[in-house]
Amino acid sequence: MRIVAVVNNKGGVGKTTITANLGAGLAARGMKVLMIDLDPQASLTKSFFTVDESQLFLSKLQTIGAWFRAPDKGRAQVLADLVFSPPRCNALIGKQGGWLELVPSDPLIINSESLIPGAVDNTGNVRAAKFVGLHRRLAEDLADPAFSKYDVVLIDCAPAFSLTTKMATVAADMLLMPARPDFLSTEAIQVMGQRLLELTRDYNKHRQAAPDGVPEMRMPRVAVLFTMVQWHNGGPIDVQAQFINEVTALGVPVFGTLLRDRSSAYAASGRFGVPTMLANGVAPEIRTNLNDCVDELLKMFERL
Ligand SMILES: Nc1ncnc2c1ncn2[C@@H]1O[C@H](COP(=O)(O)OP(=O)(O)OP(=O)(O)O)[C@@H](O)[C@H]1O
Ligand SMILES: [Mg+2]
Repeated sequence: MRIVAVVNNKGGVGKTTITANLGAGLAARGMKVLMIDLDPQASLTKSFFTVDESQLFLSKLQTIGAWFRAPDKGRAQVLADLVFSPPRCNALIGKQGGWLELVPSDPLIINSESLIPGAVDNTGNVRAAKFVGLHRRLAEDLADPAFSKYDVVLIDCAPAFSLTTKMATVAADMLLMPARPDFLSTEAIQVMGQRLLELTRDYNKHRQAAPDGVPEMRMPRVAVLFTMVQWHNGGPIDVQAQFINEVTALGVPVFGTLLRDRSSAYAASGRFGVPTMLANGVAPEIRTNLNDCVDELLKMFERL
């Protein structure tokens, strides 16, 4: 099983769009994919339901909040019981044998620490003795046999380096970092690098007080995927090419595929409850662009 956390502190860079479309693309290749929505905005969850379906199903579903509130014993099964098959998607995915499932989110997890029994002290800070256990929560539960049927887990994170994003980081084999090719987004990539170093250092410091056998945390592998790239004369417009080159020059691994800026294809996709990859009437070039990302991700998996 490969676990990919889709992260970037910066908001609106395409994390949710990429999670949904890579999920659909991997499932269409025959893979069994689980998406976990760890963002209190619940955009990933909402984008798999039409407005009518939201009223019919979504309002009645148990969400990831139940997992945060669960006691340690039997917790992995609580997470497994939240898994839901989005309506219509699997019928569209095709006959390669893959499928796509989802753990839904809700706004309650905005302050997830406070939901977890005994996680914080009375000043609201994470207890030092709980630090490693808390950060390993998702990693441990995804290692449970209840999840062994999945080939890939994609975790859509909030635009913040919150406890939920840190849990996803600790659980992940790689971090996929969508970024727009502009100044603020490329600056955010460097900030994320700093945050990852700090998390790795803090985790390993607290690990000394944790029970034996807790593995050391290594700096996670990262791959940047540029999104919303404006295309002109066979390549990104000059100002965007400059930022892409700057990030590449920093030595950060970057997807060769650049996701094109196409509001016509992406803006309305959530409304129909299926990702662009599976929607009717999508231009073939958009699907090819997304499939190129899937190809590259699969090659990255081979090198992990
Ligand atoms: N390649 C693209 N071309 C055009 N529009 C896009 C593209 N990718 C995403 N969008 C649009 O950009 C907006 C933000 O995308 P998305 O919600 O995926 O970002 P996000 O990083 O998950 O945001 P947040 O940080 O709030 O979770 C959405 O309206 C989406 O439809
Ligand atoms: Mg999002």
